[in-house]
Amino acid sequence: MSKKTVLTGITTSGTPHIGNYLGAIKPAIDASNNDAYNSFFFLADYHALIKCHDPERVARSSQEIAATWLALGLDTDKATFYRQTDIPEITELTWILTCLTSKGLMNRAHAYKASVDANRDAGKDDLDDGVTMGLFSYPVLMAADILMFNADIIPVGKDQIQHIEMARDVAGRFNHTYQPLFNLPEAQVDEETQLIPGLDGRKMSKSYDNTIPLFCSADQLRKLINQIVTDTKAPGEPKDPDSSTLFQLYNCFATTTETEQMRQRYLEGIAWGEAKKDLFEFLDEQLSAPRARYNELMNDLGFVEAELKKGAVKAREISVPFMDKIRVAAGIRPLNYVASQSEESQVEKKEKTAEEIARAEEGRRRAILMQLKRYFDRLEAASDKSAEAKLILEEKRSEVESLKKKAKQKAENELELLTSELAQYL
Ligand code: TRP
Repeated sequence: MSKKTVLTGITTSGTPHIGNYLGAIKPAIDASNNDAYNSFFFLADYHALIKCHDPERVARSSQEIAATWLALGLDTDKATFYRQTDIPEITELTWILTCLTSKGLMNRAHAYKASVDANRDAGKDDLDDGVTMGLFSYPVLMAADILMFNADIIPVGKDQIQHIEMARDVAGRFNHTYQPLFNLPEAQVDEETQLIPGLDGRKMSKSYDNTIPLFCSADQLRKLINQIVTDTKAPGEPKDPDSSTLFQLYNCFATTTETEQMRQRYLEGIAWGEAKKDLFEFLDEQLSAPRARYNELMNDLGFVEAELKKGAVKAREISVPFMDKIRVAAGIRPLNYVASQSEESQVEKKEKTAEEIARAEEGRRRAILMQLKRYFDRLEAASDKSAEAKLILEEKRSEVESLKKKAKQKAENELELLTSELAQYL
């Protein structure tokens, strides 16, 4: 069986913190050491430009994030580690996908909707106030990141699941319209690692301003840990480990045995001051070696840059020829292009597994359903669903009758799908 491809991107608009490390970087590096997968990790610097218009910050964040991955031991011979902006094919693919993406689908994207909702709440007349085209089409760029390498598995946080769904939709639409060149990717969400608490006990996140930078100095680490919110229980009073942020952070870094021993000490009434000191010492010990390596790399950015360039060369070995195929499929061809026999038969003869066939079929259904959205909207608005469903099918049938061969085939496919989807209302 061919290897599955795992791919994930990190937006370069901030400093990596402990939540990023435990939630994304560490699991990704662990997975990249597993030979069952091909791994692609990249700095999503085009994505950074969407939210962050401070060039120094974007540039600094790119340095920090790249150095962090290397300091934590990412093996760049195994994984392909690159910068999004080093792969021009990604922006090219973004445009081709943009031309296949319905605006209505993008209207429903969380990031865009959140801005619209905020404008509405603020009583603004222009609901799109402050919304750039970049923010609006963010999911298309992300789809291009994923589809460019035909990735199968996308490890992401919960907030990104919808974007992976959109990438599937867009892939399905390309496959349906042109040629089946794209896999339908799947999001992989690890519930456990989503729960890293920050200084105030809420999820650690840049937007809550409650993060602990992964490679801050030991002094700063101590200071931040001292700020972690606790309750007012006195030394000697039993403490509830499960509601303690200090304990949870300890748990994230500790082995099961270490966690159990620490749990005992909470139940026996460890003083908060001591719990903080222990957590600091424990984290500092684990982070000091990679921190030293990180500082070395931040002082040797030429080396880090060369690593990214090496990754770009590897990535483009895939993206350049694949982009050629994509372009040709969409009709952007040299004027004297003639499809070679072997290419045509390759498209037909490539044997597919049952799973691939099922996935392709699902993609086809989704693509057709997307084009039929207006009917479902009508159905939703109708009070008599059964009458409306009948009316829709009647209309579609007469449309099929009136069409010529090729258009007819398309409309027949749509009718077939509508008939099965609407059966429940009849
Ligand atoms: N949008 C993602 C985030 O903010 C980062 C990202 C960009 C990404 N492109 C991607 C993640 C492709 C997975 C796959 O977290």
